[in-house]
Amino acid sequence: MRVFFSIALLFLSLNIYGQKETISQRVDTLLSQMTLDEKIGQINQFSGNWEQTGPKAVTPQILDEIAQGRVGSLLNVHGAATTRSLQQYAMKSRLKIPLLFAQDVIHGYKTTFPIPLAEAASWDIKAIEKSARVAAAEASSAGIHWTFAPMVDICRDPRWGRVMEGAGEDTYLGSIIGAARVRGFQGNGIGSTDALIACAKHFAGYGASMAGRDYNTTDISDRTLWEVYLPPFESVVKEGVGSFMTAFNDLNGVPATGNKYLLTEVLRKKWGFTGMVVSDWGAIGELIPHGFAKDGKEAACKALLAGCEIDMESHLYKNNLKQLVLDGEIDEKVIVEAVRHILYKKFELGLFEDPYKFSDEKREKETLGNAANKAFAREIAAKSIVLLKNNNEILPLTKKYKKISLIGPLMKSKADMRGNWSIVRWGDSDIVSPYEGIQKRAPKGAELIYSKGCEISTNDRSGFTQAIEVAKNSDVVIMAMGESWNMTGEAKSRTDISLPGIQEELIKEIVATGKPVVVLLMAGRPMTFEWTAANAGSILYTWWLGNEAGNAIADVLYGDYNPAARLPITIPRSVGQIPLFYNNKNTGRPLIDENNVSYVSAYIDSPNTPLYSFGYGLSYTRFEYSDLETSNTKIGKKDTLTVKCKVKNIGKYDGEEVVQLYLRDISASVTRPVKELKGFDKIFIKAGETKEVEFKIGKELLAFYDINMKRTVECGMFELMIGQASDKIVLREMLEVIKL
Ligand code: BGC
Repeated sequence: MRVFFSIALLFLSLNIYGQKETISQRVDTLLSQMTLDEKIGQINQFSGNWEQTGPKAVTPQILDEIAQGRVGSLLNVHGAATTRSLQQYAMKSRLKIPLLFAQDVIHGYKTTFPIPLAEAASWDIKAIEKSARVAAAEASSAGIHWTFAPMVDICRDPRWGRVMEGAGEDTYLGSIIGAARVRGFQGNGIGSTDALIACAKHFAGYGASMAGRDYNTTDISDRTLWEVYLPPFESVVKEGVGSFMTAFNDLNGVPATGNKYLLTEVLRKKWGFTGMVVSDWGAIGELIPHGFAKDGKEAACKALLAGCEIDMESHLYKNNLKQLVLDGEIDEKVIVEAVRHILYKKFELGLFEDPYKFSDEKREKETLGNAANKAFAREIAAKSIVLLKNNNEILPLTKKYKKISLIGPLMKSKADMRGNWSIVRWGDSDIVSPYEGIQKRAPKGAELIYSKGCEISTNDRSGFTQAIEVAKNSDVVIMAMGESWNMTGEAKSRTDISLPGIQEELIKEIVATGKPVVVLLMAGRPMTFEWTAANAGSILYTWWLGNEAGNAIADVLYGDYNPAARLPITIPRSVGQIPLFYNNKNTGRPLIDENNVSYVSAYIDSPNTPLYSFGYGLSYTRFEYSDLETSNTKIGKKDTLTVKCKVKNIGKYDGEEVVQLYLRDISASVTRPVKELKGFDKIFIKAGETKEVEFKIGKELLAFYDINMKRTVECGMFELMIGQASDKIVLREMLEVIKL
């Protein structure tokens, strides 16, 4: 039967010359058979209810529309059995065009990985790619074809709750990480049973929401747009990302969802993108409150003509496009183009051959949360933990700490470890809390004493006394403090990003006992914690680490893994410093002497410097840099130069170092940042050993948008910096770019 089917399919897909038809030809053939209603159907995307299974996952009305060929894709339905049952309805439609199933698979599906910002802290591109790979394998086995990730929005404002979803503040790092995630999700290519179509979002500028308030307006100069916000999107187009999602915000007066410049001029024409473009949830309808369209009809018209091809949940394409075509306001060809991009993906996935290809219950059972996936979740969680401080080498914990007190509102938490983007509520049974992780790992004979101390965000001090007693009776204190899972994420902007509630007061009380204190800080964003930074003995920034949080934390606390993460985003001292990022401009009155702030670019009530800079992070070992060598100190505009240096592990432990390369264009036709990350290498070096690191500097790294917004390399002096962090440059050299 199967063989017969395959032969029949092959025969059907041969063209009149007996050659195998290309996907484009098959798309054209199908398009020629479609009515206008069926075409409009393909560009509708509706949401299901992720708590329901089988056909009940969508309303009876949607089921009916699916059977009539009026729905192209669904989101928020998952599971092999459920997706299969819904696909059966699509097979009842006249042309049997299969549905696409989409889902926000942001940091894992069943096995939850660290939030994307945490993974970015690993600076481990292979691991980040693998995390997306595993997530894709799990989700695709549950019938999902398409993930709404990666988010590649650069963010310089930690008040914005969605900072957790991206790769932080830096364009270079963000571009590399975005591309890695696309590679991971799309694996061996769209159509492989373990791959998902990736989606670059939110196009564009969403990360610049004014005042860090979600959905707010953005006002971004052309220069900043092209230098800071657009490159990660361009990078994922080059990587072959299958889809794009428009952003909610308006950008310089034009909402991104109705922005022809972005969606057509830049994305399609300049970058040559050929995949699908979906609106964000209800964003077409939001063109009305934006003041960009007077009603749903105008909103639908403007969005489609701008290049927003799929309507996620605003129902405005469904209700207005036919009339707009009949009125002559929209040429049907525009709809055909949009449908073409969708059908292409459906063919690429192989859904016309087998609409149930991804709905494989056996594979789903074997894949979801399997042991290998869990082991990897633990590995990448440990890689995401940033060691911010380690006074007197409290860490790694040794056997001398017999009595260990475990304090804080997050110590026994499970749900918070999962972070904000865990769509399917799988229950907490497979999440390892910090307490459980430490309990499993603590050496025999160690005594653990727990006291919660306080809640995450109330003002109730009644637990302080017991927590202080517990601390006094121990050899070392470990505190798990921070945000709950729903304090950072979409629509979770904060004006006060300090440790919520009275948590820092509890830290003060515990530090006052004089015991060595290790503070674990858990959050989806950079928080402010100036007092803790100055007074706690050791600090680990653990973000939200996913299922294996507790085990990974224990791995780091006990030195089974030597921390090597680096901040992908600045941690400010106070909200008043925001926006604060490392690649700022020098200004005409730079602050040179912290003690002299008179009429220079400085605050009279705070240092300019952050609490912790971009690129910062410690290890249990120490590294020494030497022997900076450049193949030449003069470089022709089109030449490439080699830079080398030596890095020695001078501490007691084997460990990884992230060697960071920064450049500064000293004087140019427009002012340039004080430094920009242009390369990095994460290397493992055994205690006592030395390794050589090499970077190549060519025109790609030296170029920028000149005064005429033309990407170019200008002659002149550049400062080359190699450092352990953006504020810890250890080797410098001047280079001169010359005309050759
Ligand atoms: C978010 C998107 C997400 C979509 C679908 C929106 O609210 O902004 O990032 O992909 O919902 O869940």
